[in-house]
Amino acid sequence: MKFGILTSGGDCAGLNAVMRAIALYLYTNIKNTEIVGFPDGYGGLIRGEAIPMKREDFEGLLAVGGTVLGTRRTPFKTMTVEEEGGGTRLARMVANYRKLGLDCLFTLGGAGTHKTAALLCAEGCRVIGLPKTIDNDIFGTDLTFGFQTAVDVAAEAIDRIRTTSESHGRTMLVEIMGNKAGWLTLHAGIAGGADAILIPEIPFNLDILCAALDARNRAGKRCNIIAVAEGAILDSEAPFRRRERAFVRAERGETTVTPHLAEVIGERTGVETRATVLGYIQRGGSPCAFDRVLCTRLGSYAGKLAQEGRFGVTVAYTRGQITFNALSDIAGKYKFVDPDGELVRAAERIGVCFGR
Ligand code: F6P
Repeated sequence: MKFGILTSGGDCAGLNAVMRAIALYLYTNIKNTEIVGFPDGYGGLIRGEAIPMKREDFEGLLAVGGTVLGTRRTPFKTMTVEEEGGGTRLARMVANYRKLGLDCLFTLGGAGTHKTAALLCAEGCRVIGLPKTIDNDIFGTDLTFGFQTAVDVAAEAIDRIRTTSESHGRTMLVEIMGNKAGWLTLHAGIAGGADAILIPEIPFNLDILCAALDARNRAGKRCNIIAVAEGAILDSEAPFRRRERAFVRAERGETTVTPHLAEVIGERTGVETRATVLGYIQRGGSPCAFDRVLCTRLGSYAGKLAQEGRFGVTVAYTRGQITFNALSDIAGKYKFVDPDGELVRAAERIGVCFGR
């Protein structure tokens, strides 16, 4: 059987580990396995650029960060646009899938990747998706691979920021990735013992946040840590659309709420305030042990699904078990933090401020 693999969207730790598990399963369990990798996400498939990959190409990848295939964001909405000279990217992908004689394509990616994968399925291609993203926002799976590694990195960064914050008696904002969903900030904030956690799902009130910081300062605390998701919003911004908010911020030369927040908090509380943007260190590097295990489970399960002829699905992790969903059921859907969920409530019970 002939299989294709691609990694699409923003990268994260564990992409290589998942590809390794898929490949080792296929080479071990299916006779005459052939695997080709498509470079740069759907781009490679659109161009029909298929790299033959042997078993040895995947061995040794368990702990390697990034993706050996490379990745790109190829927006879903561009897939069905008629191109100059006729045809669409989708049509080119389907044609290349058929020309290469693929029996199945494994797509490692996030919500956008799954939407395109569902389109390919609707055109008769056999696809199996795997849930990747540090944001953990894919609907239908409790966890995505890459998430736990990013939580560990961000939590360790908060630990480090805490000691310098204590030395100087400063308030520190730590901006954590996650534009739409606050999972990463919530988990890293709790793991790092943040005093306030600001996530997109809970628009925050500046007066409430500053009052909580004032109370801590009056109580003689030398250090305030605020974990801010890059997509966090003030309650006054909540009625506006994402695009309108981006426009207002762009006028101030900002993309996230963090710089504005640092300035206002410093002025209002009278405590020196600094901001650190963690950025891409959350996506880079070797997967943590938990992710290595998860990637091995997800990848080997995907290989088994292919062997059993179950296509048009995405592998998932639900209540500790590896399972799968129909791509058509989950494509285009996101999973958000429940503002009244157990995790938020647990943090609030111990005094963490969400600005509400
Ligand atoms: O989708 C994961 C993510 O890391 C988001 O948290 C972040 O907003 C985005 O990717 C940034 O992606 P890039 O700058 O690579 O396009």
